[in-house]
Amino acid sequence: MYRHHLYCRACGYGRPPLETLKYSTPAGPIKPTEGLIDILDLGPMPMANDFSDMGGDHRGYAPLKLKWCPKCTLAQLSVVVDPEILYRNYPYVTSHSTTMMAHFELLLEDLLKECKRGTVVEIGSNDGTLLDYCSKVGFETVFGIEPASNLCDLALKRGINTDNNFWNSTTAINLRASMGPPDLIIARHVFCHIDRWDDAIAGLETICGQETVIAIEVPYFIETVKKCEWDQIYHEHLSYMTVEAMRAALRNTSLHISKVTHYSIHGGAVVMMIRSNDSKVKPCSFEDETLSLEDLRAFANKSDSQVSDLSDMVRKLSEDGKTVVGYGASAKATQWIHRCGFTRKQIKWVCDNTPQKLYKLMPGTDIPVVDDGALTRDLPDYAVLFSWNFADEIIGKEQIFRNKGGCWIVPLPEMKVI
Ligand code: TMP
Repeated sequence: MYRHHLYCRACGYGRPPLETLKYSTPAGPIKPTEGLIDILDLGPMPMANDFSDMGGDHRGYAPLKLKWCPKCTLAQLSVVVDPEILYRNYPYVTSHSTTMMAHFELLLEDLLKECKRGTVVEIGSNDGTLLDYCSKVGFETVFGIEPASNLCDLALKRGINTDNNFWNSTTAINLRASMGPPDLIIARHVFCHIDRWDDAIAGLETICGQETVIAIEVPYFIETVKKCEWDQIYHEHLSYMTVEAMRAALRNTSLHISKVTHYSIHGGAVVMMIRSNDSKVKPCSFEDETLSLEDLRAFANKSDSQVSDLSDMVRKLSEDGKTVVGYGASAKATQWIHRCGFTRKQIKWVCDNTPQKLYKLMPGTDIPVVDDGALTRDLPDYAVLFSWNFADEIIGKEQIFRNKGGCWIVPLPEMKVI
């Protein structure tokens, strides 16, 4: 189900030198190589999007441990869960929320300053929402690559040409042969899910033309640490990225980072625009990213207190006879529920507007997922807003809940009750 990941996938730090392996014998002591540093150990956790039917099987547990590379600042999980298990049937559908649409608008406005409205390829194109938007803003050809067959079907149904595949060097060779170099390649929140960066980057080198723009959007690890957004840590996110780590990964390749832009989506994201070394646009300079081991230790400790604060508050409310539910069956919700040890006794249900998640159980728990209309039908006393990254939008539209006396518990960036 999973395998151990031992050294930095961006810069190779911690990789045992070949001669150590060659000459090590049972009799001779092997000098341990310097390795990745342990930051946070969350123990065995279920897969964050493994929603199961009532009484149905789930995919089991895997260790969830964050390690850090002191050389290039990339944080990464200690294990890699088989991507076939995680992604072939994937319930995460790109949000059609106004917050997300506003982000797409901003992102495309910025990208269109850099490239032509010709061909755009999206890696991890989900149900085709962003490519649909690209068509609307005038791109001539849009093409998606998506490993989840259920999402690929949704994209095809809405007329978005999509290949049901993982991104790798072979996919890239085939694509280059069939369509030539695109003007724009977008990979939103995908790179942090990829284990073999060498192969993924080789694919980008293959398909990248002289003026192709490759836009890689990921949660920005500096902000994750600063705002203590520890709930971004789950098995799908193999890497927690900084620009420095990406620069290390691109060393000795034919690509470079030409621009870095920050956005507020998902608690703080960064878009790195990457181009061929043959491009007229040269590497950019970027601000220093200071991240020390002390910062990371403080991050881990603060996450412990955030968990005990929410756990204590919800337990106290439920002992006092109050009804508490969750809002947003996101991967983040799975992390909070497991770290707090909540069951249906504390969290009656979690509501969500994603059809793929409805009437299933929150991963590894007995807590059902219900439709978002439940909030006004049931009128619970408290709702924990696990989708805190859409707080303004959700609180804004759920006025009836507030007007009837319901309270929000927002766990992040600082826990507050509204
Ligand atoms: P995400 O933060 O990983 O994108 O997940 C957000 C989850 O919240 C996703 O399951 C959809 C859900 N959601 C709602 O149920 N209602 C909403 O209005 C919004 C914006 C999201």
